[in-house]
Amino acid sequence: MTKINEAVMAALSTVIEPELNRDIVSLNMVRDLKIVDGLAEFTIVLTTPACPLKDVFIERCQNALVGKVAGIDGIRIHWDAQVPVDRRIHGRLDVPMNCIVAIASGKGGVGKSTVATNLAVSLAEAGAAVGLIDADILNPNIPQMFGLGSGRPKVKNDKMQPLEVYGVKLISTGFLTTPDKPMIMRGPMLHSAIRQFFTDVEWGRLDYMIVDLPPGTGDAPLSLAQSFPLTGGIIVTQPQDVAVSDAIRAAAMFDQLKVPLLGVVENMSGEFFGSGGGETFAEGRGLPFLGRIPMSANVREGGDFGRPVAIHAAKSTAGSAFRSLAEIVAARISVAMLQGADVIPINVVG
Ligand SMILES: Nc1ncnc2c1ncn2[C@@H]1O[C@H](COP(=O)(O)OP(=O)(O)O)[C@@H](O)[C@H]1O
Ligand SMILES: [Mg+2]
Repeated sequence: MTKINEAVMAALSTVIEPELNRDIVSLNMVRDLKIVDGLAEFTIVLTTPACPLKDVFIERCQNALVGKVAGIDGIRIHWDAQVPVDRRIHGRLDVPMNCIVAIASGKGGVGKSTVATNLAVSLAEAGAAVGLIDADILNPNIPQMFGLGSGRPKVKNDKMQPLEVYGVKLISTGFLTTPDKPMIMRGPMLHSAIRQFFTDVEWGRLDYMIVDLPPGTGDAPLSLAQSFPLTGGIIVTQPQDVAVSDAIRAAAMFDQLKVPLLGVVENMSGEFFGSGGGETFAEGRGLPFLGRIPMSANVREGGDFGRPVAIHAAKSTAGSAFRSLAEIVAARISVAMLQGADVIPINVVG
């Protein structure tokens, strides 16, 4: 490395990654540095394409370099992203997915499927490779929320091909049955159905696998956690007390299954159910509060007609709440996976 390159790297090693609280050089985020005519040009490899903090990086790098390193009077940053790999998944699962995140709640109707859908489409919109498993085997809602009433997955080489909408790869028992012939299954069948959604579907490489769980603390989360290492769980709750006490059960379930909790989402806040219960619950448990989604007709219609608000009404209050939620969730996932890691393990696995 030339002297000036060394000086630039040294200056960049004072730039702190805002989520991980470590410097960007020792995290191995700075690549391909070139200096031409006083312009320092380099790539920053983010831990998620859904990173909202690019401006923070630009400002911090600018402050560290321009006027500080002799001979540098401008910077140009290129962006790349690589979602870290959950080391517990790698090697245990014959499927190339970087992390698995489960969405749960203590009771039905609080908005798990709505949150799972809007989270998945927002991450995909940001450029991530996203899969979504509808683990509500008996009451699958994901097809409707993606506008896929009549979708049927094709089978190729003994593997089911997921359906893809809004850039999200989907699988659901809703694609395999019709509403007038509901699934009737016992525990062991549920268990194998969920397993097969991982192992018998041609997912391809995924940055994020989102799992939409059925309500409650029954067989599905247990099967899932027993079969696959889960990177983290997200709890959806409504703001009012009764719903929050259900959230306590969901949190206890993840604890018992030894699944790290990524945080709590409060859904349907507003005049009707009030607001704040989710945040109080999160604080009480020492969990991150991930965000608040307002009660809105937009959201319900989006779900009914397969037009997720995060895409179709991105600028509405609910739409932008979902998009910020996705950014925060992506950041929490990166932090969870990189805890204790020396550097972002780019290109090591996956
Ligand atoms: N923020 C919201 N505002 C208005 N309606 C919502 C909101 N979130 C969810 N809904 C509606 O509430 C119903 C239940 O949501 P759903 O996501 O299916 O819950 P769950 O998966 O927890 O059972 C659906 O009709 C959905 O469209
Ligand atoms: Mg649901």
